[in-house]
Order: sequence, then C-alpha cells, then structure tokens
Amino acid sequence: MKQDMIVILDLGSTENTVIARQIRDMGVYTEIQPHDITTEELKALPNVKGVILNGGENRVVDGVTIDVLDELYTAGIPMISIDYPTSKCAVKYDSMPDEAAIKAFVFDECKAEANWNMKNFIEDQVEIIRRQVGDKKVLLALSGGVDSSVVAALLIKAIGKQLVCVHVNHGLMRKNESESVVEIFRNKLDANLVYVDATERFLTKLENVADPEQKRKIIGSEFIRVFEEEARKLEGIDFLGQGTIYPDIIESGTKTAKVVKSHHNVGGLPEDLQFELVEPLAQLFKDEVRACGVELGLPAEMVYRQPFPGPGLGVRCLGAITRDRLEALREADAILREEFAKAGLDKKVWQYFTVVPDFKAVGVRNHERSMGYMVVIRAVNTIDAMTATIERIDYDILEKIVDRITAEVPSVNRVCYELTKKPVATIEFE
Ligand code: XMP
Repeated sequence: MKQDMIVILDLGSTENTVIARQIRDMGVYTEIQPHDITTEELKALPNVKGVILNGGENRVVDGVTIDVLDELYTAGIPMISIDYPTSKCAVKYDSMPDEAAIKAFVFDECKAEANWNMKNFIEDQVEIIRRQVGDKKVLLALSGGVDSSVVAALLIKAIGKQLVCVHVNHGLMRKNESESVVEIFRNKLDANLVYVDATERFLTKLENVADPEQKRKIIGSEFIRVFEEEARKLEGIDFLGQGTIYPDIIESGTKTAKVVKSHHNVGGLPEDLQFELVEPLAQLFKDEVRACGVELGLPAEMVYRQPFPGPGLGVRCLGAITRDRLEALREADAILREEFAKAGLDKKVWQYFTVVPDFKAVGVRNHERSMGYMVVIRAVNTIDAMTATIERIDYDILEKIVDRITAEVPSVNRVCYELTKKPVATIEFE
C-alpha cells in the first residue's frame, strides 16, 4: 500500500465524515473505525500514522457511555481527541478544531505524507484485486451509473476479460443510455459485456400496473431474475463485483451511528448464487469515485452524470406505463437534457428530469382540437436529497424547451414547470 493513513475513531460524532473528507482533501488517506478497535487491529491496518478520537452527541449507546480501549494510549501512535474528554491524550479540542490544527497534527506530529491520490489508489487496488481474484472470474451488474461504471473500468484494468459485465436494459433507460454503455465498455474498453435487452419482458410485466410501489417491486424483482438467469448461463464465476461506496457503508450503520438506510446494491440476490464480493470503491466518497473514473479514462458525461433512480423512467411515466407515453417521456427528457447542457445548467443543477402523468389534455394542433400528453419539468437542488429547492430557470430557456418539446414530440401539447420544494413534495413523483 502506498498511502499513509490517519484513523478516525467513531465515538458518536456526527462529523466523522466531515473530518475524514477534510484530511483526504489535504492529500492524506483516512478511515473511520469503530471506537473499540484493539491495538492489534489498529496496527494491522496499513501505514497508520495517527489516530483522532472523535467524540460527539451519540456517545451514549443504549445507556452506556462508550470509550476507547485503554491499551490504545500506549500503542505509540500519535493521538488527539476532539469533543472527547480524556486526560490520557496529549492534545484535546472541545469541538472540531480549525483546519490549521488538524493540518499541524497530521503533518507535524504524525509526519504523514500527502500521498493520497487517485493514481496511487488505482495502482494499489489493481494489486489488491489481482491478489483477491487470482485467475478466477468476476461478475458485475453494469447499469451505466457512476459507481458501477467506475468499478467496471477499475476491474477491467486489473483483470481484463476475467470480468464479465452484464448490462440489463429494462426498457426504462433514458435515450441512448444502453447504447452508450455498449459503445464505451464493449467497443472502447474491450470489456467482456453481456447485453440483455429485456424491454419486452419488463413492459409486459408492467402492463396495467398503476400502483407506484407495485411498479417498483416488479422492476426490482424482475431485474434480479434477469440478472440471475444470465449468471446461471455463465460458467465458473466465483466473485461478484459491487459498486459499494464509503457513504453506503457508513450509512448502513457503524456501532454508534444510527442506521440511515440499509444499502443492498444487488439486494435480494438468491442465496444459492454464492459469490465472494469484490468492492474496490468501498473506501471512496462520491467525488473521489468520480475522480477515479476520470483517472481511468471514462468520459465526463458518464462520470459526472446526475442521479438516476434504479427503476428509471418507470417512476416518471406515472401510473400504468404505456409504450407511447414512455416514448414521449424519453424524447422530452432528451430535449431537456440537451438544452440544459447547452445553457450550462447540467453542471449547476443537481437533478433535472421530465415526468408524464397518465392523462391527456385538450389542445389545438393544425387548427384542430386534439388530445395530448402533458410533460412536467422538474429541476431541483439539494445536498443530501432529504430536502430540495427549486432551480430558478431563466424564462427564455424554459420557453425554448417548451417550444422544442411541443414541436418535436407530437403526442405532447402542454409543458409545465414544477415549483414544489421537498418537503412537502418528494423529488420523484412516484
Ligand atoms: P425522492 O423522490 O425520495 O428521491 O425525493 C430522492 C432521490 O433518490 C432518487 N431515487 C431513487 N434512487 N432507486 C434509486 O437508486 C430508487 O428507487 C429511487 N427512488 C428515488 C431520486 O431520483 C432522488 O435523487
């Protein structure tokens, strides 16, 4: 391993990741570890240069105040405490010390080197993956989202054709999305890629299903079924690659942190499909995953794309999905994305998309009364998707988008801009 490490011990702070990020931004690798780590476990971690005891409001767990093991204080590793009252540790801060204090600890006291960068990370991971996998094969569900794409590129670099990527097109992808996965991974990166066009199968299953939860369940379980069928056709797979990233692990709950949400990246895969996991991004924050993708040569559109829900356009074609309404949605979404990119809004707005409700409205086309769909545009900004505000789009840009959608998508005769914040609305409509 090339990089030095500062370990942050989780003693109930809600700011563990803030400090972890701060130190990584200084070019030094950090990991958040549980408070009850033993000296032996600590020393088994590579290149540990210092430890931060990071206390906070969640230090009382089930009525018991948690502490680190006494043996850590004599382990011979530089240590500071933040918001953690202890007399055993030389430097103490009552709250998050300013950046200069952390910097002094990391570089002057711990003598850590600023050697955390994506080039070293990739070199280390390539070695680790090769050691773990040997000459065996790894299977990966490649959705084309940021995390799975970066894992795929990293695994291709490490083990080439021993990686088998399966891309399931559920028919609810955005315009040209599956095509670009095939173009980039099969044609440019020479990946071993199985492309499954399951559009008919998904749309047939979804016919006349109007309930949002039911739609999500069908899409989720059908996805696993298709993936499983493909996995069974392949011989000699021992490993399953996953795009798990650091927030997934932290949010799934450390010993003190409350479970924010459980993450199941390939949730619900049947137990008789037994694989060992390969999760090379498990220590990276989202922006580091993107930087890793850029370093691996993935195109910016893929690495910096906005979030897209697993059920795809399925939750934006409201109510029971019909093929013509899905097509109208896909075209309108492509126009929106094109115009946002032209106006530079794609780099500014967190998430933007179109929705098509399941009714028709009266309109006039070619001097005749006609019934058409309504497209709703939604563009929101947020930090963590728990709350969201509305982007104030320039009126001229909005007007151009409305004109283009109504001209280029004949089944649409109305376009609206949605102005409701989260809460009280959610970001998606279903
Ligand atoms: P809501 O609608 O709950 O969405 O305000 C918050 C964020 O989560 C995304 N989202 C999903 N992402 N699978 C995903 O991977 C899903 O089923 C799903 N549902 C919502 C949504 O796009 C938004 O960014």
